[in-house]
Amino acid sequence: MKNSIAGPMQPVPYRIQGFERETHDTFTLELKADDKVSQLLFSPGQFNMLYVFGAGEIPISISSDPAYPESIKHTTRVVGKVTKAMHALKPGHTIGVRGPFGSSWPLELGRGKDVVVIAGGIGLAPLRPALFDLLAHRQRYHRIILLYGTRTPRDILFNRDFKRWRSYSDLNVYITVDRAIGAWQGNVGVVIKLIPRAPFDPSNAIALICGPEVMMRFSIEALRQRGIGSENIFVSMERNMKCGLGLCGHCQYGPYFICKDGPVFRYDRIESIFNKVEV
Ligand SMILES: Cc1cc2nc3c(=O)[nH]c(=O)nc-3n(C[C@H](O)[C@H](O)[C@H](O)COP(=O)(O)OP(=O)(O)OC[C@H]3O[C@@H](n4cnc5c(N)ncnc54)[C@H](O)[C@@H]3O)c2cc1C
Ligand code: FES
Repeated sequence: MKNSIAGPMQPVPYRIQGFERETHDTFTLELKADDKVSQLLFSPGQFNMLYVFGAGEIPISISSDPAYPESIKHTTRVVGKVTKAMHALKPGHTIGVRGPFGSSWPLELGRGKDVVVIAGGIGLAPLRPALFDLLAHRQRYHRIILLYGTRTPRDILFNRDFKRWRSYSDLNVYITVDRAIGAWQGNVGVVIKLIPRAPFDPSNAIALICGPEVMMRFSIEALRQRGIGSENIFVSMERNMKCGLGLCGHCQYGPYFICKDGPVFRYDRIESIFNKVEV
């Protein structure tokens, strides 16, 4: 964390600048350092440990544009104690931030290639900074394809971004929902179904995937069937965390710590442990 004198175990106070409701159960907090000058430089795919006073500390990916480190955003789905307490926070309240931690999406490996971004549900949050970065350097890449799946149309995150992204002729956006409700006229079915006909060249592409593990597993299978090598597939993994620094062992994943060696892994490095439930 630039300009911070605190150690990596010491949360730094950040002020909530903005609260945006994304869907019925998901919200985005915009945070600025309390001293108003510190910047949190990060790479797409990294996460922070967010400490909600009186409730606890949890890992949440950074969902904003890395080009604007002076205020950072986190997009969170309410699932339990800490996320519920975080949802109750208001602009002006303070939250503790440690980070950024972990590995990032290897966008440099996509230069001159097709980049296939596959997201399921809240998995779009850690991929959003990558999309901002890919689009900011559009000329470096060949095709950019975004495949996004959610449960229903009302679960679609970042509607404002999608409006803009869909207007770009050089970004291929495909959304699908498990269950169509309301006036939805788009694709219905799991995101994996979009992979066989997505417009990319498997011999010259990298894929970035984030979502529930079962969705990532079937996405990898579909990509492998199209001919993408395991070394060109990258996934973001999740486990419960405590320290975020590779010290406590809470997030051990085979020979790795997800907080330090991940969360983004090249698939061939974890292929042998990926399908095991508890490693
Ligand atoms: C590197 C990393 C990045 C993450 N980024 C985001 C993000 O950008 N947005 C977001 O909404 N969430 C993200 N998560 C998940 C988030 O950390 C958990 O949802 C959160 O810790 C739950 O805390 P809680 O106290 O609200 O829920 P708890 O009361 O701890 O748990 C509620 C329920 O959620 C389940 N759960 C808890 N933690 C996880 C987890 N890590 N993965 C799957 N299920 C879990 C529990 O088993 C339980 O069923 C990330 C996790 C990791 C490891
Ligand atoms: S959270 Fe402590 S080792 Fe990863």
